[in-house]
Amino acid sequence: MTRVFSGVKPTGHLTLGNYLGAVRRWATVDQHRGDALFCVVDLHALTVEHDPARVRRLSRQAASLLLAAGLDPELCTVFVQSHVDEHARLSYLLECVATDGEMRRMIQYKEKAAREQGRGGSVRLSLLTYPVLMAADILAYGTDEVPVGDDQTQHVELARDLAVRFNQRYGHTFVVPRATRPGVAARVMNLQEPTLKMGKSDDVGPGIVYLLDEPDVVRKKVMRAVTDSGREVVYDREARPGVANLLEILAACTGGDPEELSGAYASYGALKKDTAEAVVEVLRPVQERHAELCADPGHVEGVLREGARRARAMARPTVDAAYRAIGLLPAVPEAEAEAEGKTEAAVNAVR
Ligand code: AMP
Ligand code: TRP
Repeated sequence: MTRVFSGVKPTGHLTLGNYLGAVRRWATVDQHRGDALFCVVDLHALTVEHDPARVRRLSRQAASLLLAAGLDPELCTVFVQSHVDEHARLSYLLECVATDGEMRRMIQYKEKAAREQGRGGSVRLSLLTYPVLMAADILAYGTDEVPVGDDQTQHVELARDLAVRFNQRYGHTFVVPRATRPGVAARVMNLQEPTLKMGKSDDVGPGIVYLLDEPDVVRKKVMRAVTDSGREVVYDREARPGVANLLEILAACTGGDPEELSGAYASYGALKKDTAEAVVEVLRPVQERHAELCADPGHVEGVLREGARRARAMARPTVDAAYRAIGLLPAVPEAEAEAEGKTEAAVNAVR
């Protein structure tokens, strides 16, 4: 059975980009295809300046949004990364396999480190090692497929490289994973800055549609989207990134094709209006289910508790095998230790 793993960081409220690029597909396709795990990767939220109470709040919210988006605990495992120690345990071993140069070449590291420095802040070491923790998330579960948006391709490549290297050096331990991406909307762009990804922790707030935005807020954001200087509606990502982004969002929401849709519009105004309504309709059921789940926080907690229990049981054997393969002495299992203790006590008594 195909093992699928993916995650979302609680660094901000989930966006339309998260939904169209990743979460929707987890619910409609991935959880049905294989043995799937979806994780709120809270340890990753600590790689940049953070507020502890906000991370806690966003983690809870992300978990209920995953369920609201249709992840079904009967079909897949939904859990919080920090509830399963194996991620951090494996991450250290992989740090002993990855190189410093490899980490510094990661595009996201370079971008985020430059941004932090530009703000006069310092760069946390965990920002540099973050892709190794992500590799551990993936490899701990023997993952075959990682459904992610475009921006994560390089990180999944690293996970592959580390798996291959580890297996070559220390014997076959890890499955070599591969990224899978959605056809359309693999990269939803910021509505105000259509050359930038719509990221949840970005500064260009009015260009970001959040999953929990009220319909009127969604309409306003889409109607105010920056378009290009031309007038006809053509699909050209390079020359007309603003219009192309709207066409892709509309296509992703309605199941159409951006190129074909472009022929149906005579003006930017009409395109924006239809896109806004399509987004509102896509978000409506998610928002309704989210409201129901908020009224029953015990349910979400229960799902996460059970998810962590299942995830631990899945990850433990692989991570233990990696510890042995790399040369670490196995800890004496508890039952044996107890038996040894008893024997010692018996010997001492005879003496
Ligand atoms: P993150 O928000 O970085 O935790 O991302 C969670 C998932 O959403 C990852 O699979 C990302 O690739 C995907 N994702 C995030 N932002 C976008 C976007 N603007 N367009 C498409 N996919 C995205
Ligand atoms: N780095 C991913 C992101 O920013 C989140 C993530 C962490 C992830 N661990 C993962 C995604 C493992 C897929 C698999 O979007």
